[in-house]
Amino acid sequence: MSVWCQGMRKPIVAANWKMNGSLELCEHFTGNLVRPDYADVWIFPTALHLGSLTDSLRDTEIATGAQNVWCEPNGAYTGEISATMVATLGAQLALVGHSERRASFGDSDEVVAKKFKSITDAGLKPVLCVGETLEERESGLAFEAVERQLNVVEEAWDRPVYLHEAIAYEPVWAIGTGKAATAEIAQEMHALIRNHVDGNGSGESQALRILYGGSVKAVNAPELIAQEDIDGFLVGGASLDVNEFNQICEAMKS
Ligand code: PGA
Repeated sequence: MSVWCQGMRKPIVAANWKMNGSLELCEHFTGNLVRPDYADVWIFPTALHLGSLTDSLRDTEIATGAQNVWCEPNGAYTGEISATMVATLGAQLALVGHSERRASFGDSDEVVAKKFKSITDAGLKPVLCVGETLEERESGLAFEAVERQLNVVEEAWDRPVYLHEAIAYEPVWAIGTGKAATAEIAQEMHALIRNHVDGNGSGESQALRILYGGSVKAVNAPELIAQEDIDGFLVGGASLDVNEFNQICEAMKS
């Protein structure tokens, strides 16, 4: 991927702050972020700070989103927030299917499909996260695992699913471990995902932006983004440091 121009897939650098951050971080981050015109920047703060961060970025190109929503627009779901509420704040995006939600909060493939639908129904862009566990990779079942996660979401639809959306490939074994997938492993899976979307007509596969996530840092970003089917990153730990994040954005130029 070289410097973005019309007709190419514009790179995305997305920050997933997980359960980290404060109002101070929001202010520090927005005050020091280098706003690239060659990449889209998306920020997923905690739900607690989503409103104020979205307000402070209202007149910029930077989009914000929720890390998680429940399947219904409202109701007796203590502790949850809905995609409709997120949209009301002026945020544009929501993550869905992150492996931490799947593993620690019991989000099954079916729940992920329902959440995906509620996000789209609310007019937000879903960023569907998929990825295999270490066990699945070691037993040669990495693509089957990812394909299963894609299939469940696609089966819940009767029209192209990923039309204007992004998919994030995040191998579970690479998240928060400091051990990013090699560029070869990541590229292979991204190409398989694009091929899958192409093969079943579930989206415009050539326009679909497929992000890599899992221990992305300034040091490994250039090699990963140089791969043909890697269109950007979903960055966890390294996104809490705005200087590191700026350097990752910088790598989108190369
Ligand atoms: P990490 O997390 O960059 O800290 O590995 C990525 C993610 O979970 O989205």
